[in-house]
Amino acid sequence: MRIVIAKSYEDMSANAARMVAGQLYLKPNSVLGLATGSTPLNMYQELIKIHHEVSLDFSEVVTFNLDEYLGLKPEDENSYHFYMFQNFFKHINIQRNNIYIPNGLAQNIPAECQDYERKIQEQGGIDLQVLGIGVNGHIGFNEPDINFEAVTHKVKLDEETINVNARFFANIEEVPRYAISMGIKTIMNAKKILLLANGVSKAEALYRTIYKGITPETPASILQLHPDVTIIAEEGAAKLLRSATHDRTNLGFASE
Ligand code: GLP
Repeated sequence: MRIVIAKSYEDMSANAARMVAGQLYLKPNSVLGLATGSTPLNMYQELIKIHHEVSLDFSEVVTFNLDEYLGLKPEDENSYHFYMFQNFFKHINIQRNNIYIPNGLAQNIPAECQDYERKIQEQGGIDLQVLGIGVNGHIGFNEPDINFEAVTHKVKLDEETINVNARFFANIEEVPRYAISMGIKTIMNAKKILLLANGVSKAEALYRTIYKGITPETPASILQLHPDVTIIAEEGAAKLLRSATHDRTNLGFASE
């Protein structure tokens, strides 16, 4: 694991965008795994800026999103379809048929999940997977006590996740209780992983992810077993890491 501590949210985002851009310069037809939530918003803005300023090309890029709520229409402002088009896809030159997001309205959810997994394989697997982290240590919507062997599947959201995500909805009743999410195995199959963490609310989860045992209670802790993980943590999220020491990690600073 390579751990970079960024001095601000903007610094975290700029570093993350540079890493994604670097991936695309090296392999213009990269398959990217993408995340939603408030954390990667500024990274998407930075990538849009790089696209406009130095013509970062997305024409051959293929994307797979981590997850989608069940039951929300793509045009629903709280769907991850809406989020991705609004915050990223409509601003870059990605081809519509290279964008994959789980269909939360599918009639047959198990078939949709299998199909999603098959499409990832058909595209040659994910080259770089971007992740946020939940306050409970979830990645995608893989909630605590997840089966580490799971691939894309239907998940029931944790009470804590419902409470945290309620801030985006009119009221907590409107938060969907279920979602489709890539599984831990899907995520672990990515060639490279970039995990972003912002804010003190993530400090405990990030600490457990890196320094505690690998346990389904902290789904992100499985990343300790991945050969190519970069974590970029804003200072608040990294506050419990500074005093910790561990010989498997490499604490660096994004810009000093
Ligand atoms: C959400 C998403 C995750 C995201 C996480 C953190 O529920 N399913 O993919 O990483 O929770 O969200 P945020 O970045 O808003 O803190």
